[in-house]
Amino acid sequence: MKHTETILILDFGSQYTQLIARRIRESKVYSEIHPHNFSIDKISELSPKGIILSGGPMSIYDEDSPQVDSEIFNLGIPVLGICYGMQLVSEYFKGKVEPADKREYGKTDLEIIGNSKIFQNIKSPSTVWMSHGDYITKIPQGFSVVAKSANSPICALSNDDKGIYGVQFHPEVAHTTEGRKIIDNFLFGICKCKPEWTPGNFILQAAEEIKNKTGNSKVICALSGGVDSSVAAVLVHKAIGNNLICVHVDTGLMRKDESSAIIKMFEENYDLHIIHIDASEEFLSKLKDVIEPEKKRKIIGNTFIEVFEREAEKFGDAKYLVQGTLYPDVIESVSVKGASVTIKTHHNVGGLPEKMNLKLIEPFRELFKDEVRAIGKELGLPDDFIGRHPFPGPGLAVRVLSDITKDKLDILREADSIYIEELHKAGIYNDIWQAFAVLLPVKTVGVMGDNRTYENVIALRAVTSTDGMTADWFRFDYDFLENVSNKIIRNVRGVNRVVYDISSKPPSTIEWE
Ligand code: XMP
Repeated sequence: MKHTETILILDFGSQYTQLIARRIRESKVYSEIHPHNFSIDKISELSPKGIILSGGPMSIYDEDSPQVDSEIFNLGIPVLGICYGMQLVSEYFKGKVEPADKREYGKTDLEIIGNSKIFQNIKSPSTVWMSHGDYITKIPQGFSVVAKSANSPICALSNDDKGIYGVQFHPEVAHTTEGRKIIDNFLFGICKCKPEWTPGNFILQAAEEIKNKTGNSKVICALSGGVDSSVAAVLVHKAIGNNLICVHVDTGLMRKDESSAIIKMFEENYDLHIIHIDASEEFLSKLKDVIEPEKKRKIIGNTFIEVFEREAEKFGDAKYLVQGTLYPDVIESVSVKGASVTIKTHHNVGGLPEKMNLKLIEPFRELFKDEVRAIGKELGLPDDFIGRHPFPGPGLAVRVLSDITKDKLDILREADSIYIEELHKAGIYNDIWQAFAVLLPVKTVGVMGDNRTYENVIALRAVTSTDGMTADWFRFDYDFLENVSNKIIRNVRGVNRVVYDISSKPPSTIEWE
């Protein structure tokens, strides 16, 4: 998508780089992350209103430390260096950076000691978040020191004439109480941006572009009911109406009443053309007696492609496939991940476009999840639909541990639905990143009335997280757990025990398989 105003973020490997982008976008200005060695030609092409140099884990004097093409300081575009980025500014303008005796990490008080556009209307002192091992010992030429902290006499550098700034702390982190205002000063006071990056503007522009791109061709969308693909479908439908064909494959691995609820919601509210395929028998027969989680995942991924392809062939003239790819999946980060092992093979619609010779429409390639939610809201999707917890592609297949049967799936569906309903009733659903029930492949002894029972165990999982990469278990009240446990055991036939999973990720994962 063409953006009239962009802030470019050059990434030097900081864990907070994505956070910088999100803060800027929350201020309604579009921002893009690129690796630190993004070329000057590409920068000129992008023509950003401002450039932010992120922090990074290295010292600028380390061998192989990431550098920046110093030409960027001569483009006449405002620059803000954060932490490592500030040291690059200092280095180029002939200041001096030296290792500190010990790493400064955590909250500290910032005192403003000079005038600068970057600190317009900022309280002093205020709390800021520090995380650095080097500090500046000689002021770079043309700059003035405009803030200090107890441990860093040079905590912020300013050159209002050139529009170049550096801060030792992290304004993008919530602990920096004036951080948002400092970023806004850069965006609006210094770069002269306008706050026009809004869901409404995005929708108008994206719809126009999708219409131009696809002309009169048919476009298909695999509508799982997940937030990203659902919002994408509604957006594309807004652009091209009934040239969009949505295919919903019921794998038989969905939650209770989920497939029918999804179809109903879209048909009633959006007049979407949805083809509903009940492929549950096909999935279940292929999964019969399969125990190994990776094998389950691969069977589901492949079966999905087969079913979808078979159906979509009926629309041989379709040229495009809609996917809900998000920005975090496409950011090219400088952090070297090394040869990572596959923990879980993810199932999404990967593999389809090449096989079917379809071109992709990915309207959210530049968006974060919360932005997709905001767009969904603007498009009128109900709040409870947009706020739903993530649900994995392989569905309940990775929550019925060991081999899968329809009976086991039904037990799990009942237990899960009671659990989720209780979360809503208690008003805590939205405090949790993801909650679900798991059916364990063991039976245990219980007593009901005067009789011995020998039945299934349900494990409850609930985690907090910001991105699913790390997670902590949710601290429920004991009363809540007791209530859910009683309700499940009383109402779900075949369950006589409920346990709660208190493992964090890592070392566990969120899903059990
Ligand atoms: P784990 O279990 O790896 O899960 O800690 C992290 C997040 O990813 C979701 N998940 C999936 N999402 N396709 C998806 O689209 C998949 O195959 C898949 N497997 C796990 C999981 O629910 C959690 O939110």
